[in-house]
Amino acid sequence: MPESAQPVTPVTFPSSFLWGTATSAYQIEGAVREGGRTPSIWDTFSHTPGKTADGDTGDIAVDHYHRYRDDVALMADLGLNAYRFSIAWPRVQPTGRGPAVQVGLDFYRRLVDELLSRGITPAITLYHWDLPQELEDAGGWPERDTALRFAEYAQIVGEALGDRVEHWITLNEPWCSAFLGYGSGVHAPGRTDPLASLRAAHHLNLAHGLGIQALRSVMPARNSIAVSLNSSVVRTVSQDPADLAAAQKIDDLANGVFHGPMLHGAYPATLLEATSSITDWSFVLDDDLRAIHQPLDALGLNYYTPTLVSAANGVVKGPRADGHGASEYSPWPGADDVAFHQTPGERTLMGWTVDPDGLHELIMRYTREAPGLPLYITENGAAYEDKMDEDGRVHDPERIAYLHSHLTAVHRAIADGADVRGYFLWSLMDNFEWAYGYAKRFGVVHIDYATLKRTTKSSGHWYGRLARTGVLPE
Ligand code: NOJ
Repeated sequence: MPESAQPVTPVTFPSSFLWGTATSAYQIEGAVREGGRTPSIWDTFSHTPGKTADGDTGDIAVDHYHRYRDDVALMADLGLNAYRFSIAWPRVQPTGRGPAVQVGLDFYRRLVDELLSRGITPAITLYHWDLPQELEDAGGWPERDTALRFAEYAQIVGEALGDRVEHWITLNEPWCSAFLGYGSGVHAPGRTDPLASLRAAHHLNLAHGLGIQALRSVMPARNSIAVSLNSSVVRTVSQDPADLAAAQKIDDLANGVFHGPMLHGAYPATLLEATSSITDWSFVLDDDLRAIHQPLDALGLNYYTPTLVSAANGVVKGPRADGHGASEYSPWPGADDVAFHQTPGERTLMGWTVDPDGLHELIMRYTREAPGLPLYITENGAAYEDKMDEDGRVHDPERIAYLHSHLTAVHRAIADGADVRGYFLWSLMDNFEWAYGYAKRFGVVHIDYATLKRTTKSSGHWYGRLARTGVLPE
């Protein structure tokens, strides 16, 4: 039989698999002054000249706050069975402390009920980067009190929605909050202080641990609590010991700094050593590690592209090729001896190399790092130059190819023994891509920013078919 005539086994996912999309509050909601909401650090940052491309802000975003019913209908029409979204802390507790604003909680209650009525499983992220500005004014994540405030906020939301939402995520990508927010300064609040970034990382870890305890104290035991990490797949240009040491350093600063305490109850010794010229870590108090090391029900992985490093060895310092935005300040404290390189291959509009093997590698690493813990891909997707045709349609074959190759990698990981339970595509709609503004479109639904009209792209129809059948098209 000629090879082409071999029967091909269809790539089929488990029938219980969650097929969702992901968004976050500041990137889609708009309505920043409604319902008692006060500014978050992203309102302040995006309104500071020079911080975002074209001065874009989330003031209107895609107006999801008013159009959430239409957006849920879009998901339902596509046949998606899950949706990951975040709660805006400043809608619920405008000053970051004190009693909850019911109008804020009611919005999310209505959103959840709409999802449930359409058979869509909600997954809530409690913190996707919009810290109430008042908490930043009091010191922000470098201060311990912010972690205590987060636990209080988590308890309020858990009490309000724990009866109807099963899937919870404490923090989204704490690496970005700590190291882009307080290290390189390309994210809010835009501070550039290596010590503050390490203190922020620890207090985000503490917020996670205290947040889990607060949630568990008010929610039904059946609910699942996770965290979404943007753990890096770190590769080296050679097996030279100096390059391997560079990779270890970046692995500690990108991954171990969070999964160390969260999964294993300790910071890696190599991390403490690499950052010893910046801090003695005396802000880690007795019992903090025990508080952080809470049992998790699942782990969320966000993946876009791998990281390629070498020892700097006198390599001339230029704009970093680590994919996190240009700044003269490094988001990697204590790693001035590490050089970042562009990985070879085709790239998305973000300049990120398309590398589906990296996703397989990441899943297998956490299958080893956290044996028995169910995994979810809580973000994966790509920005491309999407254009609407004259016929009013948006064809995005590159995004379909990206999704196809990455879902093939997920399927391969499942076949290799990984317990992956769901996939949340970033993102449902084009939205506010942080410092890059609206120019980078990640959605499977196109937004016309003049009219806010939603148009499902060909990738959205493709993804919907996959969600309905569980079979990856050839
Ligand atoms: C990571 C973040 O969680 C999300 O907010 C962002 O838009 C995407 N990745 C794409 O950069």
